[in-house]
Amino acid sequence: MSFQVAVLTVSDRSFAGEREDVSGPAVAERVSLEGWDVIKRDIVPDDLEKIADIFRAWSDQERVDVILSTGGTGFAPRDVTPDATRAVVERTAPGLTEAMRAVSMDITPHAMLSRAEAGIRKATLIINLPGSPKAAVENLEVVLPVLPHAVALLRGDSDAEKGHHDLNQE
Ligand code: MTE
Repeated sequence: MSFQVAVLTVSDRSFAGEREDVSGPAVAERVSLEGWDVIKRDIVPDDLEKIADIFRAWSDQERVDVILSTGGTGFAPRDVTPDATRAVVERTAPGLTEAMRAVSMDITPHAMLSRAEAGIRKATLIINLPGSPKAAVENLEVVLPVLPHAVALLRGDSDAEKGHHDLNQE
């Protein structure tokens, strides 16, 4: 199953050109390995309104299936990506972030410091990943296996509903 993904790097320093964006390309490359299309990439500063604007545009106009953000999920004063996400999603998807933090806790206790959110706006799933390339890909690996089924459900694909039913019968 193929679907469209957009990758947003949230970083004041990368936006200002002071630090190369390594995480966005790392996330995009991992997604491409699955055969999914990365149709949008951008870099924004740690600014709640700018982050929320891109999320809205990629959901409402571009209608991408999945938006992956990287960065701005910690406790620093300008870490506002989760807050921008909460401002735009209509439904939250806490299972994804619970799973990412649970798995990440086996890698580093600092996973407790991730405020990452995931949620749904229209038919688009938005997932926050941490800022370092290593952490971003580690977290992405956790949710990758369920993304095709998540997208099928968001599209209202009847086969996806059937998949649920069959699973429930086992
Ligand atoms: N999760 C994994 N799997 N691996 C990591 O190295 N780093 C943590 C955490 N989650 C990390 C991780 C750290 S140090 C922080 S501060 C939070 O993610 C938030 O990261 P961010 O502020 O770069 O978004």
